[in-house]
Amino acid sequence: MSETRRAVPTIKIDDERVRVVEWRFAPGTATGWHRHEYAYVVVPLTTGPLAISGADGAVTTAELRTGEPYFRLAGVEHDVANPNASEFVFVEIELKDAPLSARGRSAARAASVSRPRPTPRRGARARRPR
Ligand code: NI
Repeated sequence: MSETRRAVPTIKIDDERVRVVEWRFAPGTATGWHRHEYAYVVVPLTTGPLAISGADGAVTTAELRTGEPYFRLAGVEHDVANPNASEFVFVEIELKDAPLSARGRSAARAASVSRPRPTPRRGARARRPR
């Protein structure tokens, strides 16, 4: 097993809708290999390169800029490392409405957003607020 030290995730919000995690990378640390089960947005709090190891084994460099967010769909697999001599930080926002297993359903729901909602049957359970 790799001896690469790990970046430190701190969960800021974790509810039904989103998970917001601050990732702090000391120099040379990495997230470890992972697969994104949800679509997500990354908001860099640092400017500079990150080293991304992809599913095909290739390592690419991503140039992040403080305050410049990017979005990725569910299904991304990678290991993310900090090649810099200083700390690197970003905030990751996972969108639980867009799980990998229900992308079709989610898209269908988004497409029907302007239609009136059916009236719940009597005795039907209340839905969580939207
Ligand atoms: Ni990731």
